[in-house]
Amino acid sequence: MKILIVGGNGGIGFAMLKESLTRYPDAQLHATYRRVKPHWYHERVAWHQADASNNEDVKSLSELFDDIDWVINCIGLLHTSNKGPEKNLAALDSVFFQQMITTNTLPTLLLAKYFTPKLKKTDKPKFAVISAKVGSISDNQLGGWYSYRASKAALNMFIKTMSIEWQRMLKNGVVLALHPGTTDTPLSEPFQGNVPQGKLFTPEKVAYDLIGLIASSTPQESGSFLTYSGERLPW
Ligand SMILES: NC(=O)c1ccc[n+]([C@@H]2O[C@H](COP(=O)([O-])OP(=O)(O)OC[C@H]3O[C@@H](n4cnc5c(N)ncnc54)[C@H](OP(=O)(O)O)[C@@H]3O)[C@@H](O)[C@H]2O)c1
Repeated sequence: MKILIVGGNGGIGFAMLKESLTRYPDAQLHATYRRVKPHWYHERVAWHQADASNNEDVKSLSELFDDIDWVINCIGLLHTSNKGPEKNLAALDSVFFQQMITTNTLPTLLLAKYFTPKLKKTDKPKFAVISAKVGSISDNQLGGWYSYRASKAALNMFIKTMSIEWQRMLKNGVVLALHPGTTDTPLSEPFQGNVPQGKLFTPEKVAYDLIGLIASSTPQESGSFLTYSGERLPW
């Protein structure tokens, strides 16, 4: 079994990598980082440098594989060093909006384009991406966080649409958008103050849940938006 974790150096991504190693002792793991190669070695993990929003990087990455069983995209962005998610319309900023789309939406399109032919060569291909519940349009009650919400809603629409094409050409395949819950990583760190007791999860717990969901998912569930506990979210 061959698994690629995109963003394997991130909070959730690294935990997904370790969980995959534990759960699949015979699996060959591949993981990407963007800038600094993690100082962490495992004999069954191959690290690859890639900016997943760059067409040539994703294309070159895909060319390293003849086939692959699972591709899991764990990258994402909620705030930059000088700007956080918008509280109101006045805070909107075109550069920030484009950064959100570039990081939260575009990489999945590129990964889907270049890895579908590789996934197609295996028996039970799975393509999973970490989305976010705030990307649900019908669940949006609080407002705010315009760019992040819009980028994840666009991601969700992409996943749903991709699953329809996969139903025709990769009949045993599964495409999933997953919500991890609020997880203790650098991405959520500035916003953890209001999280109810017991609702801030460790990356390890989330990885255990999400890898379990990916593992047990069936083609009938393809095109779903699921929480860490397996509950189906409305788009
Ligand atoms: N943490 C939460 O509470 C929470 C809640 C809901 C959804 N999520 C989602 O879960 C996913 C993982 O988030 P996290 O909490 O693990 O965040 P994190 O610890 O900040 O990790 C984000 C990862 O994305 C990578 N990345 C960003 N842009 C990239 C690019 N262009 N190419 C390659 N890698 C890139 C980062 O790599 P570099 O370090 O090299 O930039 C880092 O590995 C995200 O999609 C996030 O939206 C998280």
